[in-house]
Amino acid sequence: MREIAGGAEARLFYQTKLGSIYVGDSLRVLADHVAPASVDLIVTSPPFGLVRKKPYGNINADKYVEWFRPFGEAFHQVLKSTG
Ligand SMILES: C[S@@+](CC[C@H](N)C(=O)[O-])C[C@H]1O[C@@H](n2cnc3c(N)ncnc32)[C@H](O)[C@@H]1O
Repeated sequence: MREIAGGAEARLFYQTKLGSIYVGDSLRVLADHVAPASVDLIVTSPPFGLVRKKPYGNINADKYVEWFRPFGEAFHQVLKSTG
């Protein structure tokens, strides 16, 4: 298990021979369940740095890059060089 800032352990929700769905903090999922350099494509819909507050806790625009950086680093870890 790599040391990351993510929350509690993720839960495997569904799995087939084609892939798996996990429920949890995506930083935790990426660190614990996705092999480095194994991913071709990441599609994400993160909380955006909106002025208007959302119930899921979006970050203010001036803090957004700092908040998103660990996600970018985690994506970089799991992406293939061709990803
Ligand atoms: C812009 S919304 C995405 C909505 C989604 N695309 C949809 O159509 O329902 C951002 C979502 O990211 C979730 N989220 C925020 N931080 C997360 C994290 N570390 N891991 C997983 N999900 C996270 C929020 O709870 C919120 O539901």
